[in-house]
Amino acid sequence: MHASLRASALLVLLLASCEGPQSALQPAGRDAERIAVLFWWMAGGAVVIWVAVLGIAVYAVVLKQRAHSDRTARLLIVGGGVAFPSVVLFVLLVYGLSMMPALLDLGPPGGVRVAVSGEQWWWRVRYTTEDGRTVELANEIALPIGERTAFALSSPDVIHSFWVPSLGGKMDMVPGRINHIALEPTRIGIYRGACAEYCGSSHALMNFYARVLEPAAFDAWLAHQLEPAGPPEGPLEERGAVLFLANGCGSCHTVRGTEADGVVGPDLTHVGSRYSLGAGILENDVESFARWLEHTERIKPDVNMPSFHMLDDEALVAIATYLDGLE
Ligand code: CUA
Repeated sequence: MHASLRASALLVLLLASCEGPQSALQPAGRDAERIAVLFWWMAGGAVVIWVAVLGIAVYAVVLKQRAHSDRTARLLIVGGGVAFPSVVLFVLLVYGLSMMPALLDLGPPGGVRVAVSGEQWWWRVRYTTEDGRTVELANEIALPIGERTAFALSSPDVIHSFWVPSLGGKMDMVPGRINHIALEPTRIGIYRGACAEYCGSSHALMNFYARVLEPAAFDAWLAHQLEPAGPPEGPLEERGAVLFLANGCGSCHTVRGTEADGVVGPDLTHVGSRYSLGAGILENDVESFARWLEHTERIKPDVNMPSFHMLDDEALVAIATYLDGLE
């Protein structure tokens, strides 16, 4: 392939990778919009400076091969090497800092509050309603469009970083303290979040999804999350529910409305309704549940949950069907 053709093919690929549910360049939130504008100004400025430097280099090497006088050389070094970068960086600094108050605004007090804790390697999510009721879920958040929702971020052990590129900035989750960030979605959709701070072997397998909903749909979603799990619907689900408890799953996981009340792992009360499994890495279906149960440590290295490879296929499918039915 011709070099320029190859270069344009690469450019197309690079730009295509800027789209999708996890793109800071396709903002779906007020804060992401501000950050994207800053990015484009910086990218534009970088291109202008790059072209100017190349132009000057070509001029110096090809067009004007005589040496400059000492005075001109000093002017060029002080002007181009000290004054110009200082001014450009100062303007960018002021522009960047001027965005901080808006990005740090946590919105009006009251309303729904969300706390997210970074675990190895998943996200513990806690919603507190306006009237003070609390519900725990995992690896998924939902937000009402057009409203500013504040997040309290923490971690019990190592540093993680909470980031939904399409919606806003990123914020570290540091053990021993609570950091805050707010997100204000502007577009209905489902967006992908990721851990943006190396936190151990399965750091790259620590993702989640953020649903942006109409306010009424958000209220319905939250009301549903507050409800306990419904009873198993068929004989296979019933068998799965029995095996789930018999194999000790309930000592690490909670399924509200049943005897399972463990708090070590993700709450599974409505796990079947989530967009993905295993913190954003598997489809949410019976097959993936069974795969996850059987090969947990292969799918997510060093995870706390052991693999249940000792279970036969019948038991795996029963438990998987039960969990998938926890809508
Ligand atoms: Cu959590 Cu990286």
